[in-house]
Amino acid sequence: MTLLAPSILSADLTNLSLQIRLVETAGADFIHCDVMDGHFVPNISFGPIIVKAARKITGLPLDVHLMIKNPDKYLENFAEAGANILTVHLEEVVHLNRTVNKIKELGMKAGVAINPSTPVALLQEIVDFVDLILIMSVNPGFGGQSFIKNSLRKISETVEMRKNHNVDFLIEVDGGINNETIKPALKAGCDVFVVGSSIFKADNISAATLELKNILNNK
Ligand code: DX5
Ligand code: ZN
Repeated sequence: MTLLAPSILSADLTNLSLQIRLVETAGADFIHCDVMDGHFVPNISFGPIIVKAARKITGLPLDVHLMIKNPDKYLENFAEAGANILTVHLEEVVHLNRTVNKIKELGMKAGVAINPSTPVALLQEIVDFVDLILIMSVNPGFGGQSFIKNSLRKISETVEMRKNHNVDFLIEVDGGINNETIKPALKAGCDVFVVGSSIFKADNISAATLELKNILNNK
């Protein structure tokens, strides 16, 4: 199963409803919501209020990526806003097992993300508890950056770790994914592909979405 998750960080927020409907109609599987606080990453984006707006617009799973310090303080807020998947950064959470359990207790799927310079090996003790692992293929904070190639090896290592642990979480890649870089990421064994600027900055959002879906479906 391969899933496409357009990131609304790159969307025209003055017309969020239309933008989400366009990608949904063209086959998007998740809506990726990039939450940034200007501390964990050098950019500020949006909080639960935009997740709540997206919840009113679409029935698609909201895949919320927390690039914030101290995410434990906000788990309930994002649950109330309607997040379906809530992903925290391993680098930012001291008691990660407790946080992952809390996300699941709140009724959401639990994701853990690692930055480009964080080794996959550090996921060893949490992969048995998660629903999703997010491999950052750019340095978090902005859309429109270039894909970091060694992310492909990290995806393969994560596939290997999932097999060795005999567990079944989704592997998501996030950053610099376009109709070229999506191919090696697919080959490396990724399940979920976050795409921001290659969709929402395209001349034709629907066509760009459809083209990426066709690549994922090997059409
Ligand atoms: C970056 C975010 C990504 C980003 C993807 O910090 O986590 O989700 O929005 O945007 P593109 O696809 O333009 O790299
Ligand atoms: Zn993201």
